[in-house]
Amino acid sequence: MVQAAVMGYGVVGSGVVEVLMEHKESIARRTKDEIGIKYILDIRDFPDSPFQDKFTKSFEDILNDDEVKVVAEVMGGVHPAYDFTRKLLESGKSVVTSNKELVATKGAELLKIAKEHNVNYLFEASVGGGIPIIRPLSQCLAANEVIEIAGILNGTTNFILTKMIRESMSFEEALAMAQRLGYAERNPAADIEGHDAGRKISILASLVYGKHVYPQYVHTQGITKISLEDVNYASAWGGVIKLIGQVKKLEDGTLDITVEPMLIAKDSQLANVDDVFNGILVRGDSTGDVVFYGKGAGKLPTASAVVADIMDCVKHLGKRKYLDWADGDESIVKPYDETVFPVYIRAAGKKGKKALYEKACELFADVKEIVRSGSAENELAFTTGDMKVADTEKAVAAFESFGADVLSKIRIADL
Ligand code: HSE
Repeated sequence: MVQAAVMGYGVVGSGVVEVLMEHKESIARRTKDEIGIKYILDIRDFPDSPFQDKFTKSFEDILNDDEVKVVAEVMGGVHPAYDFTRKLLESGKSVVTSNKELVATKGAELLKIAKEHNVNYLFEASVGGGIPIIRPLSQCLAANEVIEIAGILNGTTNFILTKMIRESMSFEEALAMAQRLGYAERNPAADIEGHDAGRKISILASLVYGKHVYPQYVHTQGITKISLEDVNYASAWGGVIKLIGQVKKLEDGTLDITVEPMLIAKDSQLANVDDVFNGILVRGDSTGDVVFYGKGAGKLPTASAVVADIMDCVKHLGKRKYLDWADGDESIVKPYDETVFPVYIRAAGKKGKKALYEKACELFADVKEIVRSGSAENELAFTTGDMKVADTEKAVAAFESFGADVLSKIRIADL
């Protein structure tokens, strides 16, 4: 029997214990060894839990117990998870985690410590919940040059957008429901402001391009400014609005990496990824497009990925799984202002639609009006051709000086 410990008995932690207990026999058959849970670390009391003999409030109990070989860190947040993970790896224990914030901010350092101590640090659950994506990228697709990854990486915001569009639910109501279902982060601002998706695209980019791409290098924008008018214009254009995390390798070797709402065409493979589902499109030079789809948040889907990592560590005790990236700096990322893409713009103005349209054609590249029934008078919505962000900003400023009130500006994706 190999002993494991679980740090954090929240939504994911309780799921990890449940999956390990319920699938005990099939797990033992697949790992060729039984996995026991010796400790569950949490500062809270769970008087009704059947696992009273396992709970501890002391991290040292786990750290100092040589019998414990693998630890699941499902506490979330950087502190104290970082300190705990570092000490566990240094003491020769493997660690698995769903903690995307920790992997995105300290991944290079923790992977290096794991390597130095011949143990494993695995994080399949940190991106895409129950969807396999870390292993496919580091193993199955490893022969490819990955040209681009684009994904709906946050279940909470996708759930909110779906509820708003399909059921006309208010933003607040949909968020409260996502919280009740255990999808949202402790501080849901991380979801709705795009930071959670930013951490996930950072992890995927670091993995694929071999250098740590820190979340602060990722242009990040959430969904709080999306209005129903934009959703309706998107539909008239022939698409939907989704919060997309995207990284593309540019010709000069830098990365165009961003999280922002994007207009995507209805025939894109990501357009019908709704509710709490995530969809991740990987463009490989040999494979072409490969799409991963499944539940991106929630107790059991996330626990499934954490437990699979525990099993992998048990199968590789005393051996290393190759999973690595070097430290990186900002030079790997193309400044957002210099990136190039088309946008959708919605503007209003007293001068009237015709004058706005004529001015837009003067200022922006390849303007195409979006016509829809029921639009407000004196409101113009249009798409542009490819433009450098800095040039789009200049054109928007000139449009506003002309008297246009620019109400929305959303990137158009090529997916
Ligand atoms: N809050 C996250 C989400 C949880 O909604 O996607 C899974 O990482």
